[in-house]
Amino acid sequence: MSSRGLQEFLQENLAELKSKGLYNVIDPLESANGPVITIKGKNLVNLSSNNYLGLATDQRLKDAAYQAIEKYGVGAGAVRTINGTLDIHITLEKTLAEFKHTEAAIAYQSGFNCNMAAISAVMDKNDAILSDELNHASIIDGCRLSKAKIIRVNHSDMDDLRQKAKEARESGLYNKIMVITDGVFSMDGDIAKLPEIVEIAEEFDLITYVDDAHGSGVLGKGAGTVKHFGLSDKVDFQIGTLSKAIGVVGGYVAGKQELINWLKVRSRPFLFSTALTPGDVGAITKAINILTESTELHDRLWENGNYLKKGLKELGFNIGDSETPITPCIIGDEIKTQEFSKRLYEEGVYAKAIVFPTVAKGTGRVRNMPTAAHTKEMLDQALAIYKKVGKEMGII
Ligand SMILES: Cc1ncc(COP(=O)(O)O)c(C=O)c1O
Repeated sequence: MSSRGLQEFLQENLAELKSKGLYNVIDPLESANGPVITIKGKNLVNLSSNNYLGLATDQRLKDAAYQAIEKYGVGAGAVRTINGTLDIHITLEKTLAEFKHTEAAIAYQSGFNCNMAAISAVMDKNDAILSDELNHASIIDGCRLSKAKIIRVNHSDMDDLRQKAKEARESGLYNKIMVITDGVFSMDGDIAKLPEIVEIAEEFDLITYVDDAHGSGVLGKGAGTVKHFGLSDKVDFQIGTLSKAIGVVGGYVAGKQELINWLKVRSRPFLFSTALTPGDVGAITKAINILTESTELHDRLWENGNYLKKGLKELGFNIGDSETPITPCIIGDEIKTQEFSKRLYEEGVYAKAIVFPTVAKGTGRVRNMPTAAHTKEMLDQALAIYKKVGKEMGII
C-alpha cells in the first residue's frame, strides 16, 4: 500500500490536471503506425507520426530485423561495455559515421537518453551551455544533469546568442562553453541558423552540439541539417534519433574519433543500460543503407509535404513559417485547438493538438507530419476534411 502522502499527492494533482483539461488521454492504435491508422475500429489518415519516410512498416526493415533475431536472439544480453556489444553494433556505428560524414559514431538506446548521455559526459559544474529556448525536453534534461550553468538563448536569435556567448566568455567564470540547438524545431518546422551559429562558435571558442532528430532523413538529401549547410567538419556533436525518419528506435552521436572514444568510457547509458536489441540494430542498419543508396523516399516526403502545405495554405489556414515537411495549422486559442483536433478525428484525420506548455500560450496548433508513405488520395481526403471542419468552426 502506498503512503498517505503519495496518495494525496497523486489524487490532488491528477484531479487538477483533469479539471484544467490538461490530462492527456492516450488512444492505443489497433494497427501499425502507417499513413492510415485504426483507433477504436475507426480508420484515420495519420498526420501525427514521426515516421517521415514510412520505414517503420517497410518490409525490407522487417526482413532485416527477423534475420538479426534469428542469428542473435531478441536481446543483446548485457550493457555494451560488458559483453553486450555484438559485431552488428560495430557495423551499425560505422554505417552511421559514413551516413553523417564523420570519423566515428556511437549508438544509444533512444534519442532521449543519447542527450542525457552525451551532454553530461563532457560538461560539468565549471562549464556553461547556451541553449535555444525551444530546444527539446531531452536536451534540457541533459543540460540539467551535467550541472553546467544553463544560459537560455531567445529562439534562433543570433544577436542574443552572440551577446550571451561574449558575456559568458568574457566573464572568465567557465572552463568550457557549449552551444546547443535542435537542427529542425519540431513544433514549427523551422531550421536552426547553423552557419551563423558555427561562426559565433568559432569567434568565442564554443563547443557545437546539434540535435538533428527531425532533420536526419529529411534535410541534406537525408544526411541531415549539418550536411544541408555543408558544415560536417565544423560541428562537434551531431545527434540523431533512430526512431523518426529511420523508423525504429535508438539514438546516436556522430563526431570525431576521440569524442566517440570518450563517450564509450564516460557516457552512463552506454555503460549502465543494456544495448540496443539485435532486431533493432538489423532494421536500423538496413534503413541507413536504403537512405544512402537512394533519395527516393526523401524526395517523396518533400513532394507530399509541399502538397499538403500548399493545400492547407490555399484553404486559408495559418501554417506558420515551416521550412520542412512539418506543417503546423496554428489556431491560437487552446480550447478551440483541442476542439478542432477532435472534430478532425471524428471526420477521419488524426492530427494531434499541441498547446501550452509545449508551445507558447495563444499559439495552440494542430501539427501535421506528412510522410513518404502517404498517397495523394490520402492527402486529398485529409484536405477535404480540413476544409469541412475549418469552415464549420469559422477558422477559414
Ligand atoms: C529534438 C529531439 N531530440 C530527441 C528526441 C527523443 O528522441 P527519441 O524519441 O528517439 O527518444 C526527440 C523526440 O521527440 C526530439 O524531437
